[in-house]
Amino acid sequence: MRISGAPVALVPTMGALHRGHVALVDAARSRGCQVVVSIFVNPTQFGPNEDLDAYPRREAADVAMLEAAGAALLWAPDVATMYPQDFATSISVGGVSERWDGAARPGHFAGVATVVTKLFQQVKPDIAFFGEKDFQQLAVIRRFVADLDIDIEIIGVPTQRDDDGLALSSRNAYLSPEERVTARTLPRALGEAAAAIGRGGDVAAALAAATARLAEAGFDPIDYVALVDAATLEPVDRLDGPARLIAAAKLGGTRLIDNLAVEPDL
Ligand code: PAJ
Repeated sequence: MRISGAPVALVPTMGALHRGHVALVDAARSRGCQVVVSIFVNPTQFGPNEDLDAYPRREAADVAMLEAAGAALLWAPDVATMYPQDFATSISVGGVSERWDGAARPGHFAGVATVVTKLFQQVKPDIAFFGEKDFQQLAVIRRFVADLDIDIEIIGVPTQRDDDGLALSSRNAYLSPEERVTARTLPRALGEAAAAIGRGGDVAAALAAATARLAEAGFDPIDYVALVDAATLEPVDRLDGPARLIAAAKLGGTRLIDNLAVEPDL
């Protein structure tokens, strides 16, 4: 692949692939890249009470999807390959990884940073693609790539959604049919809050209204609904630069996250 000259792209995933993952492959192909996709359900980014064992594994369907999408190569290492018994290193990112999902899921972003660094070393891509769906993860990856002088271009790809607005996620498979209907409240509440803030409305009031709407729909707990600086992920109380509305909440046993860009109306 390297001899052919076209840039090598990496799309890291945990499998149970959907249209959101395919959008990353499409984005890489549209830049003329040869696309390597990795599938590895990374144990170090799951907390002790999280869904590592339940996480959906569908390798045959994933392979068919990647072939149809035109991926060139699948890298699907096993746990012993990634974390041999004497494995002893962790990459911990400060600042941007500390709040929000970093606070709700201790150790999560160190697990992500460590595994993504290993995947980068194994595949040695020129360019790597990540979804804006996991907005804080994308910011954490941009941070350690800059901090560690990693010579890989990082591209963010917009969130792919179902027709009713719910962001596609491998974890949506956990939702009961009733929960799946309720789940659309998350993008709707965020959309309303983003519009209100964009019109110049009070930020705290818009966040409180979105939180109340989620609680009313049955989301519990609501880990956060926040307006943040799009680069640092620090909270902001008014719109004076690129901002992002981010949220995470549980519906039944399923933790859902979502985010939207917030722009001032002109
Ligand atoms: P996973 O949840 O499988 O997601 C793999 C990639 O697909 C991530 O970059 C994620 O942001 C992107 N993605 C997921 N749903 C998306 C959607 N609806 N629209 C656009 N992109 C979407 O994120 C991980 O795996 C892991 O943390 C990983 C980076 C692979 C490290 O283990």
